Amino acid sequence: MKICLIGGTGFVGTHLITTLVSQGHSIKVITRRPERHRHLRILPMVKIVTIDFFGNKILERQIDTYDVVINLAGILNPSGKNTFEHVHEKVALRVAEATKAVGTPRLLHMSALNADENAASQYLQSKGRAQNKILAMEGLNVTTFSPSVIFGAGDSFFNRFAQLLKMMPWSFPLTCASTRFAPIYIGDVVDAFINSIDKPQTYGKNYNLCGPESFSLKELVKYTATEINSNSIIVPLNRFFSKPIALVMGLFPGAPITLDNYNSMKVDSVCPDSGANKSASISDLEIQLHGIDSIVPQYLGGKDFAGQMDYFRAKSKR
Ligand SMILES: NC(=O)c1ccc[n+]([C@@H]2O[C@H](COP(=O)([O-])OP(=O)(O)OC[C@H]3O[C@@H](n4cnc5c(N)ncnc54)[C@H](OP(=O)(O)O)[C@@H]3O)[C@@H](O)[C@H]2O)c1
Repeated sequence: MKICLIGGTGFVGTHLITTLVSQGHSIKVITRRPERHRHLRILPMVKIVTIDFFGNKILERQIDTYDVVINLAGILNPSGKNTFEHVHEKVALRVAEATKAVGTPRLLHMSALNADENAASQYLQSKGRAQNKILAMEGLNVTTFSPSVIFGAGDSFFNRFAQLLKMMPWSFPLTCASTRFAPIYIGDVVDAFINSIDKPQTYGKNYNLCGPESFSLKELVKYTATEINSNSIIVPLNRFFSKPIALVMGLFPGAPITLDNYNSMKVDSVCPDSGANKSASISDLEIQLHGIDSIVPQYLGGKDFAGQMDYFRAKSKR
């Protein structure tokens, strides 16, 4: 198949493209900054196209004749013109409209668990508005995916906490320590996307993606500390301290946490069994879920060469 990705240069996109290429598909990746993504150039059958403005039928021309369009574009923290509204809503809706206009047979869209117009954070609100609008569009064979936190080589969850634990070797203050997550392995997310492509029963549906186990944030940071042999003492912060700390940390360059991240983490990131955010049955996707124990030790703690290289590439933005 000919598959075009928007937002395909990041963590999820790199894993997804690597698998798609190994299956013989022909890939186009649309990016704003090709110089930062040289790692994709070494893959065969991958064409990288630079576009930073999606107006004037530019996107339509790029995706015309493609079999599948996948939109992964997303940000955790806004900067300048790259706001939540711009990336999660305007770009996502442009992609959906262009896909419909040229009659691309299939659209896969990445949302996030707990995405909801009425959520506490702007990240989740913007993801929720886009998800609802895209699923409501007629004449589009679309499936949306809403994962909890995703882990795997090059992730910005376990790797980030490992980095922060090294910077704070004695004690580690932790906001939202009791919030629960159901981390899902990137390989399982990739399988969910690919397996859905030719399954008409997934059209028009959202799939929440959660791993097989759930943990509090404190348990996950403790697990990370054990994996990297850190003796740092994790100090859970109560709500009274968490909010001002998130506010101040958000002002630091490369903010470890922002107020909006804090607002997202006030709610557990685990798949609900019932209620408005209940998803279509994940059994449709025929994926085998992996727990953290079988994967994380392979890339954390400098035990895995490829994991270390991913880390250095990300750090030097190459
Ligand atoms: N990682 C997780 O744990 C997790 C969990 C839930 C949901 N998600 C969602 O999954 C998606 C991929 O996540 P990720 O971890 O791979 O993120 P990532 O590594 O930060 O990659 C983000 C991608 O978004 C693109 N992007 C950013 N601003 C854009 C804009 N204005 N126009 C077009 N593209 C833009 C970037 O493309 P450029 O090459 O142009 O910079 C990049 O390819 C995101 O939508 C994220 O919200 C991730």
